[in-house]
Amino acid sequence: MRLLSIECFDTPDEAVRWCRDVRSQGLSLGFVPTMGALHEGHQTLVRQAAAQNDRVCVSIFVNPLQFGESRDLETYPRDFDGDAKLLEAAGCHMAFTGTLAEFFPGRLQADGGLQPEFMLDPGPFAESLEGEYRPGHFEGVATIVGRFFEILKPTRAYFGQKDYQQALVVDDLARRTGGPEVVVCPTHREPTGIAFSSRNTRLSESGYAAGLFLSRALFAARGLWLQGERDAQALSSVMRGVLAQGDLTVEYASVRDPRKWSGSEPKGAMERAVALIAARSGEVRLIDNMLLSDPEPCQD
Ligand code: PAJ
Repeated sequence: MRLLSIECFDTPDEAVRWCRDVRSQGLSLGFVPTMGALHEGHQTLVRQAAAQNDRVCVSIFVNPLQFGESRDLETYPRDFDGDAKLLEAAGCHMAFTGTLAEFFPGRLQADGGLQPEFMLDPGPFAESLEGEYRPGHFEGVATIVGRFFEILKPTRAYFGQKDYQQALVVDDLARRTGGPEVVVCPTHREPTGIAFSSRNTRLSESGYAAGLFLSRALFAARGLWLQGERDAQALSSVMRGVLAQGDLTVEYASVRDPRKWSGSEPKGAMERAVALIAARSGEVRLIDNMLLSDPEPCQD
């Protein structure tokens, strides 16, 4: 066996050539799109991609198309050197970055934004919750992910359950556009229960303490489900009760049927359920979710 050290490319052209070379050798290619500031959650995606594919590539691109608030884009943490080390340890073969102009040559407007006709429709799963609180966000996600699929042509693409609605949106996009198989990996949590997130590094000590209430609320809903509660309103109201104990501004705490996305909470007894939360701890926006009906996969 040959040990490969990671290739790092600054432009998409080099990455496209590398992927073409992999495919021309008949090898399978796993792809993990990221915005960098990597952590153990990202590493679990890379490890799974490495276990299921001959080669793994990772994009590191803070995509301006998906940020409504420019402050969020400006303050998004960036650490390329640290990222490369974590990727290599997780079994990644190639990482690349680029600029919006390089990803969409000839398609930008004078102000540097993408010409609107090249934005992709994120489909029905973009409705409500994140879609409501971050208008335009999923258009931006679908557009960059669709472009990656188009230029890299990976065999499989890996996304985290941590961004539950995003996983639904990109899976639907891949099916509509003949893209890769989408693999959704379980949310990786710190021992405190909080989901790993690049945004956690921006939390103060008290902000982190408040952030813990997201997973506590989800575990409370899951506990209630296991006791037999099947009513969406009862489940979300227990979450709101727990969240109220933390210094948080709650955007939503809601329940959906994971197999049948709906704009509002389902009425009547649910057979399957996923609980989803978005809340701000100071300036930092946190999201988390948990499947209530299926066993949450163990941490690796
Ligand atoms: P980013 O937030 O960097 O996340 C990259 C991938 O890592 C996503 O699929 C996300 O769901 C997954 N991830 C993040 N935290 C995780 C955790 N604690 N456990 C498991 N997986 C986790 O999501 C994006 O970037 C962007 O929207 C992107 C898809 C790259 C498009 O720009």
